[in-house]
Amino acid sequence: MGEVRNLQVPLITPYKMGNFHLSHRLVLAPLTRMRSYGNVPQPHAILYYSQRTTKGGLLIAEATVISDTAIGYPDVPGIWKNEQVEAWKPIVDAVHAKGGIFFSQIWHTGRVSNTGFQPNGQAPISCTDKSIGPSSNGSHYSPPRRLSTKEIPQIINDFRLAAKNAMEAGFDGVEIHGAHGFLIDQFMKDQVNDRTDEYGGSLENRCRFALEVVKAVSEEIGADRVGIRLSPFSDYMESGDSNPEALGLYMAESLNKYSILYLHVVEPRMKTMEEKFKCSESLVPMRKAFNGTFIVAGGYDREDGNNAVAENHADLVAYGRLFLANPDLLKRFELDAPLNKYDRNTFYTSDPVAGYTDYPFLEEATSA
Ligand SMILES: Cc1cc2nc3c(=O)[nH]c(=O)nc-3n(C[C@H](O)[C@H](O)[C@H](O)COP(=O)(O)O)c2cc1C
Repeated sequence: MGEVRNLQVPLITPYKMGNFHLSHRLVLAPLTRMRSYGNVPQPHAILYYSQRTTKGGLLIAEATVISDTAIGYPDVPGIWKNEQVEAWKPIVDAVHAKGGIFFSQIWHTGRVSNTGFQPNGQAPISCTDKSIGPSSNGSHYSPPRRLSTKEIPQIINDFRLAAKNAMEAGFDGVEIHGAHGFLIDQFMKDQVNDRTDEYGGSLENRCRFALEVVKAVSEEIGADRVGIRLSPFSDYMESGDSNPEALGLYMAESLNKYSILYLHVVEPRMKTMEEKFKCSESLVPMRKAFNGTFIVAGGYDREDGNNAVAENHADLVAYGRLFLANPDLLKRFELDAPLNKYDRNTFYTSDPVAGYTDYPFLEEATSA
């Protein structure tokens, strides 16, 4: 019976990702939920993540800051202090108890921050000293301070230490957050990076920081536990590039040198974080260039996720908002059952239950 069903649902077929045996192709996309009070993961995350765990399923935890200069939003979890590592342990254990594979997304926001989040009220750091303009959502970003060339190894080391801590917390691996206009993306994109040292100018120079982070993290925990997320086509936080195709391809090819586990790319149709647009660009050239596991994300539903796998455009498909609102997304896809609608008003609120762990499972929804 299982086999017949599997033939019909490409997303629900097994896949071997390096040393990890996945039982299906649905991935929990990294989702910031801002419920880690004081940058410490909280016990309510145990229920949240275990609700979304399936045996042999891959989960990517919410973006997790690597140091006290990395913070740009309130109540996001960190992983640079012992207290944070200890707080992650029961969450990771709960995911493992249900047979899930759990990666930590390690994050530095760079200039997407303000002095209020920074130690001693200092300026946020970036590759540039150019500010982000006033945002439409009322967020306030302070003018950043440009990192000097000799300071850069310290930030790379912070990524390395965060990866080491993630291993200590029990995670199966890390995803380096190189997307969405945060620090690594700021270095890569020519709309932001205006450096004149070896970290700016040419494509190769702009990608140097990202690749040095990949190398350091891989040396620390093993390349078979390292993934990276990129969004070459998006321009959130005024972080766009004049030639995203070339950027994406250069990264995909360069990453092969480090033999990392996976490359996770946000679809070009996600010009903003949450709306999809029709577009002609495609991730297929990156998919073809990269030797490891290829994960796609951004605006996927059941049907186009199945198509992506069936057409070999991706090995795995990450789901953000649908998984946020449907803890039993795998089961619903299996049965082609209706989905709960997500409520964007509670994406980033701090309640430990509402909009977090109270989305109903299928039985509850149908028996209610
Ligand atoms: C509430 C929310 C939080 C998010 N947090 C993160 C994050 O921490 N790291 C990240 O790389 N992307 C983050 N994203 C982007 C998602 O991972 C995903 O790429 C995006 O939602 C598009 O996929 P979807 O259409 O399946 O939701 C977030 C998106 C949402 C809606």
